[in-house]
Amino acid sequence: LRDKYIQAIAGAEDEAALEALRLEAVGKKGEISLKMRELGKMSAEERQVAGPKLNALKDEINAALAAKKAALGDAALDARLREEWLDVTLPGRPMRTGSIHPISQVTEELTAIFADMGFSVAEGPQIDTDWYNFDALNIPGHHPARAEMDTFYMHRDEGDNRPPHVLRTHTSPVQIRHMEKYGAPCRIIAPGRVYRADYDQTHTPMFHQVEGLAIDRDISMANLKWVLEEFFAAFFEVDGIKTRFRASHFPFTEPSAEVDIQCSWEDGQLKIGEGDGWLEVLGSGMVHPKVLQAAGVDPSEWQGFAFGMGIDRIAMLKYGIPDLRAFFDSDLRWLKHYGFSS
Ligand code: PHE
Repeated sequence: LRDKYIQAIAGAEDEAALEALRLEAVGKKGEISLKMRELGKMSAEERQVAGPKLNALKDEINAALAAKKAALGDAALDARLREEWLDVTLPGRPMRTGSIHPISQVTEELTAIFADMGFSVAEGPQIDTDWYNFDALNIPGHHPARAEMDTFYMHRDEGDNRPPHVLRTHTSPVQIRHMEKYGAPCRIIAPGRVYRADYDQTHTPMFHQVEGLAIDRDISMANLKWVLEEFFAAFFEVDGIKTRFRASHFPFTEPSAEVDIQCSWEDGQLKIGEGDGWLEVLGSGMVHPKVLQAAGVDPSEWQGFAFGMGIDRIAMLKYGIPDLRAFFDSDLRWLKHYGFSS
């Protein structure tokens, strides 16, 4: 009996075979267990001889099982190590990494520049009511500016009594939302997506603006000019870049100005911050008293400037991108070329 099991255990090929042997020998119904049960039927003398022998045999078999089990485990580990070895000297497989979209990059750049001048970032919803997008900004229902903006209106089912919603046509509604919530004084920028039904080389139905708003007791157009010139110098990395303010009209500012930056155009090369050419980059002005009022800010105590600038436009200028539409085509080759790695 001993030889039979000791040999079988030595020859077991895997843990399953070993377990079968264990059950066969020392399991509840195993051969040795059955023999031990027979001890009870023996005479005392017989038992005194057979008992210790059987116990010793059982111990020996258990020890052999344990030793074999450990050996099998080691062998399995060796096999795995042999199979799964890794050549760390092999060159890595190329991995496709994403890159920062130029619009995101430019948004981060301008946010950092304005942050240095004390502006924090405010946000508003891209789907807004026509009150925030128009009325509160002194653009009443009949105003031609509503038609000019090529507004996307949200569809409403008959009987839906919620106020009309639009895809915001500019970031100016964030002025209202911010002042409503936090009052004056304030100094914020609000970058984000805006929407107008328009499409050609310089217009896409979705594009990006950054709104600026500074309200305090004695803020003037002079402060606006300084802030913008500081911004353009930092953004385009040219000291002393000139700006030109042209009188204009927006319902939500009075007076209003469109702002151009200095540029030159030689041999088909556009250079920002030199020469005597001008490029329009933003609309601005002193916040209209009616706008302050609509946002719950007292115009007899507070005043300030606001501006709205096209992010896509200044990104095109800074990085020499000729067609606005390419920003939003999701062409991977284009994105790789103009993308910025993090
Ligand atoms: N909201 C204006 C536009 O989209 C820009 C603007 C913002 C002008 C703030 C003046 C003040 O054209």
